[in-house]
Amino acid sequence: MEDTTSSDRLLVTSALPYANGPIHIGHLAGAYLPADLFVRYQRLKGRDVAYICGSDEMGVAILMRAIREDRSPEEIIDTYHAQIRENFERFGMSFDYYGRTTSALHAETAQDFFRVLDEKDVFNLKTEEQLYDPEAEMFLADRFVVGTCPVCGFDEAYGDQCEQCGSTLSPTELEQPRSTLTDATPELKETTHWYLPLEEMQPKLEEWIDSHPEGKNNVLGQIKSWFDDELKDRAITRDVPWGVPVPADVAERHGLDAEGKVIYVWFDAPIGYISFTKEWASQENAPTKWKAYWQDDETELVHFIGKDNIVFHCLTFPGMLMEHGDFVLPDNVPANEFLNLEGQKLSTSRGWAVWLHEYLDDFGDERGPDLLRYALATTLPETKDADFSWEAFQQHVNGELADVLGNFVNRTLTFAHSTFDGTVPPLENPSDADQAVLDAIAETPDTVGQAYEAYRMREAVAETMELARIGNKYFNDTEPWHTRESDPTACANTIHVSLQVCAALSILMEPVLPDAAQRLQNMLRLSNVRSSTPDDDPNDAIGWDDAAAPILEEGHTLNEPEILFEKIDDDVIEAQIEKLRERAAEQDSDSTDTDMDYDDLKENIEFDDFMDLDLRVGTVTTAEPVPDADTLLRLEIDLGFEDRQILAGVAEQMAPGEVEGLQVVVVANMAPKEMFGLQSEGMVLMAEEPDGTFAPVTADAENGSVVR
Ligand code: MF3
Ligand code: ZN
Repeated sequence: MEDTTSSDRLLVTSALPYANGPIHIGHLAGAYLPADLFVRYQRLKGRDVAYICGSDEMGVAILMRAIREDRSPEEIIDTYHAQIRENFERFGMSFDYYGRTTSALHAETAQDFFRVLDEKDVFNLKTEEQLYDPEAEMFLADRFVVGTCPVCGFDEAYGDQCEQCGSTLSPTELEQPRSTLTDATPELKETTHWYLPLEEMQPKLEEWIDSHPEGKNNVLGQIKSWFDDELKDRAITRDVPWGVPVPADVAERHGLDAEGKVIYVWFDAPIGYISFTKEWASQENAPTKWKAYWQDDETELVHFIGKDNIVFHCLTFPGMLMEHGDFVLPDNVPANEFLNLEGQKLSTSRGWAVWLHEYLDDFGDERGPDLLRYALATTLPETKDADFSWEAFQQHVNGELADVLGNFVNRTLTFAHSTFDGTVPPLENPSDADQAVLDAIAETPDTVGQAYEAYRMREAVAETMELARIGNKYFNDTEPWHTRESDPTACANTIHVSLQVCAALSILMEPVLPDAAQRLQNMLRLSNVRSSTPDDDPNDAIGWDDAAAPILEEGHTLNEPEILFEKIDDDVIEAQIEKLRERAAEQDSDSTDTDMDYDDLKENIEFDDFMDLDLRVGTVTTAEPVPDADTLLRLEIDLGFEDRQILAGVAEQMAPGEVEGLQVVVVANMAPKEMFGLQSEGMVLMAEEPDGTFAPVTADAENGSVVR
């Protein structure tokens, strides 16, 4: 069929999940399900696809978890790598290869990459004093140190970032730093590190980004704000005992000792995409075939990620690739925003998440995956944050999969068996109504395909379901149970056309509902449909575009129908909601029991000190996320006498919808401050509970009223 020319080559990646915890629906909605829909569609189109992923097993996040749980990093990654891999498979992720960054080939690939850049003198080396824990005998990189944020005064800011105000920090900027390992006060000790000179690279990166105006708006917006703030050089080595070692020969070139130095995880991990493509090629017994995917300009490279990874995939990694020179650059990075759960931010520490393995245990490995794939696909946070709720999940399954798609298929096949001996009846003199449905079949593959190609997965899935709706309505309107007696030709036409709709759907729904699509193909005895998984030969079967023309021949024999989707009872949904609430309550009481840690009282102040504060009542008229600052919400507040813009560090605790409309208390004479290119003109009072949740201080009074 289609000719597999080189421009058909498509390399797709999903962000490598850290092997330090299980996968939840937020991960799936960000970087995994959209990619899987995309690659399955592309395989059905006949494109030459390599879909690559694997576990991110290096880095401080893994080491910290190991230290906290008193286990070795190897134990942590072995446990979670196996778990993640298994559950992705249960969910129907169709990777061509799933690797791990602790493989020998990965270390070699990352080290070679590092060496090439070093030999081209791309890096800057900087010798500086850094924080060192004398008790643990370790430099305190990133999250190994906490202290007071120099920007907002938050006293639990991490060495790499303040989660209160979103500022990017370096450990030495923290006031009153302390080691998270031993609580010791760190000392300063001199050390040398390699830096990626992003400042110098900015013009090149801007030019490259400008040449890709087709990128998603949410992604381009975030990148622009990084450019506006000006890129800073980033250290790409660390003094920590876990990571890909800095090669000894590279250190020697600079008269340095590589001992104890590793490559920063955000340098090695994306190189994993290359290492794993090599490992995949070897596994396919074509060890050099990875080169076509990474080194031939005709390859289209697409990285699927969540929004927290944008800077690394749109700036750092492309910058690395440009400097290296031997590899293609990404053509698109369709990052998704965040998924909330039941109106609240997902939070693994608060137990507010739906874990994939638990979902699969509860809903079954056979029927479960399709239901979650479909419900999530209709709810993907493609342009803005989106919300997953169990009731919406039930509605999608019962009202759409069962009532529309399942019902239509079942009626059609049952009728074909009861009236036409289980064969496809002929089509004779089609009516306008018959023809309209045949026209819909002809158009749908293209409509859906264009949506997939533009990374509008929600639309693609909605347009797929639209064909089932059209079929279902047509079946109702043409009333074959009446025409069976009154007009047998019309009756045969209805069933013929409805069966053709079923056949088209069995192909078009395969990306989102791979299991149900297979079962429908079995019912229709369609055996030669191309696979949407890496399994078989992409070229000798019925593919995506073939779904535009009627597929079933007159007289073709069908199998018996079976129920495609069962409805989900209310009690099943209630049990899930209950489980979520119980877990969250448990976490809350855990933290109240063990961590109840009242802040020390501050020193007395005079009445006049208090009177210096100008506290006012105001209504939050607008609340929205701040691009690039995961912790901040931008609020517009009506103070009665004027409107204010305030940036509040509450985005991890509260969704915009929870804040909007509240009447709050504002520190109205707080000196204005600029953050992320925006002015913040005041502060909103919040009570911080022991578990870190925020409760706004509200007031039922006229806007502008003074609080004293
Ligand atoms: N492990 C990172 C995360 O979960 C993603 C790494 S993506 C890669 O946020 F490109 F670095 F591999
Ligand atoms: Zn801060």
